[in-house]
Amino acid sequence: MKKIEKPQRRNSRERFIPTNKAEKMSIYDRVHFRIISFVHDTLYSLFVNPYELLNAAGLKSGQKVLEVGCGPGFFTIPAAKIVGEKGKVYALDVNPVAVETVRRKIEEKNLENIEVILADASETGLPDESIDTAFLFGVVHALDDVDAVMWEMHRVLKAKGVLSIQKSWWSEKKLLDAVTKNGLFSFREKTKRVFKFEKS
Ligand SMILES: C[S@@+](CC[C@H](N)C(=O)[O-])C[C@H]1O[C@@H](n2cnc3c(N)ncnc32)[C@H](O)[C@@H]1O
Repeated sequence: MKKIEKPQRRNSRERFIPTNKAEKMSIYDRVHFRIISFVHDTLYSLFVNPYELLNAAGLKSGQKVLEVGCGPGFFTIPAAKIVGEKGKVYALDVNPVAVETVRRKIEEKNLENIEVILADASETGLPDESIDTAFLFGVVHALDDVDAVMWEMHRVLKAKGVLSIQKSWWSEKKLLDAVTKNGLFSFREKTKRVFKFEKS
């Protein structure tokens, strides 16, 4: 595999999210998240089958999986069921209320194969080449630095790892361009609005 040099960031700590940020979230942020959470737990599940999308993303038993932007965890518990006891799901979100919500769901269900991470997706803190599948559902359009996140996905994915992205608001072209433009990933296939990429 060819080596692609990552450009230096001006300040590599600028995206570090302190774990006490929850206390600094505004009431607006908290209410906004509660509304999203309610919609996910009620209406969303009437129209979206999480297992179908996760299977389309390539999740399999025994895999180590990174969920970027887990939100209230609509996909997190199903992902944990698919990867099973021998696998692991890292559920990451930059929003402390999302992370708290998912942590509570995990405790209620007594699941041991999920780890929640409060961090920006451009700085996950995970080891190099440790992840089989990274998936971004409903989040790519919300990222403020897509390039930085793509570099991070490239770093944490194993050589044969898969990056799966659900097309949401962006056009197909915009999504393909954003993911492939730095030569980090090549498009492999699309199933049910989920685009799969492999490391170049
Ligand atoms: C619309 S929600 C989608 C939640 C979930 N993936 C789903 O589809 O049900 C988008 C989530 O991405 C998170 N997010 C946005 N930018 C992020 C970033 N740079 N790093 C980590 N999480 C991010 C938000 O905090 C939010 O919880």
